[in-house]
Amino acid sequence: MKKRDFLKNAAAAAAVATPALALAQDGKPACSGADFSTLVRARHSVRDFLDKPVDEQALRDIVSDAQQAPSWVNAQEWKVYAATGETLAAFRRDFQARAASGEKGASDIPPAHRTSWSQAAQKNMQRLSVDVGAHMGKEAGVFAQVQDTLFNAPALLFFTLPKEYPQFALLDLGGFYQTLMLAATARGIDSIPAYAIVKYPDLAHKHLGIPASEIVAIGVALGYKSTAKIRAVEDAAFCPSAKYT
Ligand SMILES: Cc1cc2nc3c(=O)[nH]c(=O)nc-3n(C[C@H](O)[C@H](O)[C@H](O)COP(=O)(O)O)c2cc1C
Repeated sequence: MKKRDFLKNAAAAAAVATPALALAQDGKPACSGADFSTLVRARHSVRDFLDKPVDEQALRDIVSDAQQAPSWVNAQEWKVYAATGETLAAFRRDFQARAASGEKGASDIPPAHRTSWSQAAQKNMQRLSVDVGAHMGKEAGVFAQVQDTLFNAPALLFFTLPKEYPQFALLDLGGFYQTLMLAATARGIDSIPAYAIVKYPDLAHKHLGIPASEIVAIGVALGYKSTAKIRAVEDAAFCPSAKYT
């Protein structure tokens, strides 16, 4: 089996019984609320990763945990494809050439114009941009640059749905990839969900063998955060207390 194929149909993989299930019996929580709050607050988007691979077994374990996410009548319509090593290097080469040529993104799920969002959401978005400018100053351009280098991540995950997916499947996918990122955080692995990863979906189809019958809904980069300036900025700008509204 090619490395990139190993997570091809995560939904079809066997369900895994975890020790936490036993702990959760008789109304006793599987872990403390404080532990969970710490975990949730520890996750935040990382935009520059070290050149350090993520262990393949860790990737498998993270996907296995994510499969505990609920879904409509347990449909688990999602699929996840992993790119690491040579597959990722080839994807990144093509991706960077496209980005450098200035080709516009054409994601399968089109991004909505800011004005399509509520006033409150637009305010949050604006504050994010202001924060980036305020914390990065002259280096604010790096924020845009890392999008085109795929955050220098050593692993990318692509989440797909059938072309004609029911709306609830999209809802379910959100729960799946958030659970996956929390599973990564619990293992000390950083992440970012990003439109930027899926803005040229044809490249994901080409390099990961994703069939034409599937759309590439969203991508998640995984790895270990770097110590570059953008990291310090993110820690300041995106720490939990900076969540808006
Ligand atoms: C669907 C989705 C797409 C996103 N796309 C991008 C992206 O293309 N580039 C980026 O830098 N951040 C992207 N983000 C990250 C958000 O900016 C980030 O989640 C938000 O600012 C909250 O920060 P936090 O994740 O650190 O809590 C995306 C997040 C989501 C949920």
